[in-house]
Amino acid sequence: MHDILSATGVSKTYASGFHALKGIDLAIRRGEIFALLGPNGAGKTTLISIICGIVTPSAGRILVDGHDIASDFRAARSLIGLVPQELTTDAFETVWNTVSFSRGLFGKPPNPAHIEKVLKALSLWDKKDNKIMTLSGGMKRRLMIAKALSHEPTVLFLDEPTAGVDVNLRRDMWQLVRELRATGVTIILTTHYIDEAEEMADRIGVINKGELILVEEKAELMRKLGTKQLTLQLSESLAQLPPALAAYDLALSADGSELVYTYDTQGERARIATLLEDLSDLGIGFKDLHTTQSSLEDIFVGLLKDGS
Ligand SMILES: Nc1ncnc2c1ncn2[C@@H]1O[C@H](COP(=O)(O)OP(=O)(O)OP(=O)(O)O)[C@@H](O)[C@H]1O
Ligand SMILES: [Mg+2]
Repeated sequence: MHDILSATGVSKTYASGFHALKGIDLAIRRGEIFALLGPNGAGKTTLISIICGIVTPSAGRILVDGHDIASDFRAARSLIGLVPQELTTDAFETVWNTVSFSRGLFGKPPNPAHIEKVLKALSLWDKKDNKIMTLSGGMKRRLMIAKALSHEPTVLFLDEPTAGVDVNLRRDMWQLVRELRATGVTIILTTHYIDEAEEMADRIGVINKGELILVEEKAELMRKLGTKQLTLQLSESLAQLPPALAAYDLALSADGSELVYTYDTQGERARIATLLEDLSDLGIGFKDLHTTQSSLEDIFVGLLKDGS
């Protein structure tokens, strides 16, 4: 089966002359959750806006389930749900009407049962007759999601879905996204919360200064770029690192009671056994040990540092 979405050579130069995207090639697999990470101004919203037909690309081609967004716009667009970064709603309209109207915009026949399901899933059911201006910020954001789901899209874009949303609600939204995926919806989200990508994504793309600098399976990314630390609690404190261990990336805690070995998850695991043998030969014993793995956040910060 072909990819649900593909972008080939997508570039964007805004009228100001700013080169916001530089030849983006990206294929999104059917049914995956793809997280697009990148600092402010990297080009995330620009890319999403191009795919959704809001911004015209300067170059490149986009196919949504085989439909060209330029030559077959209506068919391509009807497959897409977009939750924009900026909230835009009609303040005087009710929740129910807004969501129902959104569905109509895509030429879909009314389906009150679907709208009800969506509003209930987003805990907006008791607000269905409220005017939008009476909703809180977090409720408005959920309303944007309800609108995006109103026409039963196959691909859902969430541009910073949980910005300004409280912790409990974030968890609810993650749950909702997972449920959507389980029904076959492909999800592409941008986020500044790296834990969100770490929690949700199957694959991660990192965009920086208009270039896609990396696309990788999340697990693979963490395996490849992550470092692990092995901490040994020594039986007896050391005054200094024994010179015989200079070949290892070791650090001694300030009080000399812990030895921390930092290693690459890919290649250096095998050296742990050698390190432990060397310690034993030197008569250095330990009471306990544990390992910690670097988070996606560490990886991300490291990547951008290298890329800039
Ligand atoms: N309409 C526009 N005209 C000119 N420049 C623009 C326009 N829209 C965006 N840009 C510029 O393009 C770059 C990418 O913006 P974009 O909104 O895509 O970034 P982003 O990755 O979504 O950032 P954020 O994380 O802050 O949402 C920025 O430098 C921005 O100033
Ligand atoms: Mg943005």
